[in-house]
Amino acid sequence: MLASATTFVLLVLSGLGPASCALIGPSLQRCPADFQLVRRGQTISASEAHYIEQKREKVLPSAFKTYLHSVKGTGVQLPKYVEQILGSEAQLPTVGISTSGGGYRAAIFGAGVLNALDARNSSAVKKGTGGLLQAATHLAGLSGGAWLVTSLAQANFPTIQHLVFGDGKAHDFSGWNPSVDLWTASADPAEQAVFVQEVLQEIAVKAKHFPVSVGDAWGRSLARHFTNGTTPATLLANTSHGAGILFSDLVNLPAFTSHEHPFPIMVADIASKHINGTIFPGGNAIPLNSPMFEFNLFEMGCYDDVLAAHTPMKHLGTTNHSVCATGFDEAMFISGTSSNLWNELNITSDILAAATANFSALVNATYPQSPLLRLDTSNYPNPFLGVAPATFSDAGETILSLVDGGEDGQVTPLQPMLVEGRAIDVIVAIDAVNDANNFAAGASLIATQERMQLFPRGLAPFPAVPTSLDVFAAANLTARPTFFGCTPSEYSSHTASVHSKTPPGPLLVYIANGAPPRDGSAPLTNTTTGQFVYAPDELQGMLTQSFDVATQGAFVDGALEDPEWGACLACAVVDRARAREGVKRSGVCVGCFARYCWEG
Ligand SMILES: *[C@@H]1O[C@H](CO)[C@@H](O)[C@H](O)[C@H]1NC(C)=O
Ligand SMILES: *[C@@H]1O[C@H](CO)[C@@H](O)[C@H](O)[C@H]1NC(C)=O
Ligand SMILES: *[C@@H]1O[C@H](CO)[C@@H](O)[C@H](O)[C@H]1NC(C)=O
Ligand SMILES: *[C@@H]1O[C@H](CO)[C@@H](O)[C@H](O)[C@H]1NC(C)=O
Ligand SMILES: *[C@@H]1O[C@H](CO)[C@@H](O)[C@H](O)[C@H]1NC(C)=O
Ligand SMILES: *[C@@H]1O[C@H](CO)[C@@H](O)[C@H](O)[C@H]1NC(C)=O
Ligand SMILES: *[C@@H]1O[C@H](CO)[C@@H](O)[C@H](O)[C@H]1NC(C)=O
Ligand SMILES: *[C@@H]1O[C@H](CO)[C@@H](O)[C@H](O)[C@H]1NC(C)=O
Ligand SMILES: *[C@@H]1O[C@H](CO)[C@@H](O)[C@H](O)[C@H]1NC(C)=O
Ligand SMILES: *[C@@H]1O[C@H](CO)[C@@H](O)[C@H](O)[C@H]1NC(C)=O
Repeated sequence: MLASATTFVLLVLSGLGPASCALIGPSLQRCPADFQLVRRGQTISASEAHYIEQKREKVLPSAFKTYLHSVKGTGVQLPKYVEQILGSEAQLPTVGISTSGGGYRAAIFGAGVLNALDARNSSAVKKGTGGLLQAATHLAGLSGGAWLVTSLAQANFPTIQHLVFGDGKAHDFSGWNPSVDLWTASADPAEQAVFVQEVLQEIAVKAKHFPVSVGDAWGRSLARHFTNGTTPATLLANTSHGAGILFSDLVNLPAFTSHEHPFPIMVADIASKHINGTIFPGGNAIPLNSPMFEFNLFEMGCYDDVLAAHTPMKHLGTTNHSVCATGFDEAMFISGTSSNLWNELNITSDILAAATANFSALVNATYPQSPLLRLDTSNYPNPFLGVAPATFSDAGETILSLVDGGEDGQVTPLQPMLVEGRAIDVIVAIDAVNDANNFAAGASLIATQERMQLFPRGLAPFPAVPTSLDVFAAANLTARPTFFGCTPSEYSSHTASVHSKTPPGPLLVYIANGAPPRDGSAPLTNTTTGQFVYAPDELQGMLTQSFDVATQGAFVDGALEDPEWGACLACAVVDRARAREGVKRSGVCVGCFARYCWEG
């Protein structure tokens, strides 16, 4: 077995020329003079504010014009205010897109919906939905949705078809690699042994200065599937596989220097031994009253009032003002944190090892860790040690043990869109959670609604959604797009806010992977979260069905599609801006809101 492994490595290496092994990892150096470890508060960072300002100024006016052109192309007559708002510079709405967890299923469903919103997809433009992706200011991903968001950003915002399948040209990014399993890269034990060796070696540099766990092996494995530097043919080769692609470096890619890319955000939960709260039903693991963490282009932190603190992304791993880490924020380690649900399989260490192709045990055998360290979570030196000790559960811990952001039940990452400073008008929520039959039934919206009752301070209100799955089902809310938060329909800055000071919060456009195709064909999009291998045909079939979900709208008079859906979506996109202008809904928008709003 050993001999064949060696032969294999030699073959691979000779086929590739000089081996660029991945002895890459975080390092420590003296902190910059102006270094600030912690920024307190629930406001957004100056860097984020600047990015959004630049995007508003340089990208949004033409992006919204392109989108308007696409909507008008459907031939549906729009009320004047829709055209005015989308064609203006000053009144443009702020749109955020949140794409849920659910493994590859969610990554693919989210990709299909983004395709339907992409100005570069001619079929999407024909449907009147293409262009909203370019006009969105924020893009949040969780777990499988985080794979999609990270992959899209690091590849410099290719089209979705090119993101998933590559574009056939020889360059760094060649598409996702779902022909190969995530933990078991080969069925041949000798090849798998080489893969395991490589993954373990790739975390050697980090292990010198930082705790390592299954989260590090997971990140390295995921990097082979979602970042630059790997094709199916080189997946087992001893090359760098996207090591050293840092989340904080994405800002230097052309899609970011031009501000075309929406501001990326990922979400994680904390597995805290100090939190003892109610666990949201449906197989979740983390209590709803646990603080939530987000990773964005510039910072990692927590917007919940119990912590309200942030640390620079570029120096993640740092815990004081003298010695600073860099290189800790490897893109797929972070995306892997958002999707690290291995703690849910920590029933015994053997079950955990079996679920992770033994990586949980091998990491510790190779780099012995403190017995106090959790090996099932993704671990971060705590930059918030001593911060908010009265309210932050883990203010006394040296390590933050973070896990999949959906483990509290909030599998669609909505909270980042409720941060007040982001002033989001419309959230497009893409939900591919496995609530029933591996379809979404609305549970993630209910979870966020319940959590907002625990942590309301400093966040925009979340629109009312049903309190039970039965209501979602009875009203078909997951079987077609639904708008939440449509009322107060005549809210305007000239009336309500002056008197009540309560802004309405965002309107929610909910697009769920909630039902089999309407044309009776076999459903392809409800695969299990644990399915890690997909053939190209299956992938394309799922993308096509997801695209349909996002472009067909509601059933209308027995027809499979709503010819006004593109216009209706535009009515939702402009609705908060409309209210600010004190204009009444009119024309097609009146019917659209009657058709798509859930009023409770
Ligand atoms: C547009 O999206 C559809 C559905 O996913 C896909 O089949 C088609 O190839 C896409 N077109 C382009 C130009 O990317
Ligand atoms: C990844 O590859 C794409 C396509 O080759 C390239 O445009 C992008 O800059 C690369 N990203 C990084 C982080 O190197
Ligand atoms: C990968 O390459 C590096 C340096 O070239 C070498 O040290 C390491 O042993 C190789 N790993 C495997 C599994 O062959
Ligand atoms: C959690 O709650 C249970 C039941 O109320 C209690 O017995 C336990 O001591 C609590 N643990 C912590 C860490 O608060
Ligand atoms: C600062 O952090 C570094 C790296 O973790 C550590 O080695 C050093 O002792 C710390 N310095 C102080 C003054 O705490
Ligand atoms: C799993 O890892 C442990 C620790 O290194 C090792 O003793 C054991 O043999 C491994 N089991 C398998 C099936 O690889
Ligand atoms: C990890 O390794 C350390 C050092 O060998 C050991 O003390 C600890 O028990 C191990 N942890 C687990 C979960 O096996
Ligand atoms: C499993 O979880 C427990 C806490 O519930 C933790 O103490 C233990 O370290 C975990 N095991 C591993 C292997 O990470
Ligand atoms: C997908 O949904 C259909 C019902 O429409 C069901 O029969 C099938 O078992 C589901 N597939 C999975 C993998 O859950
Ligand atoms: C829900 O959809 C079914 C068809 O799948 C239809 O018969 C029913 O009338 C719809 N219910 C509502 C409230 O729209």
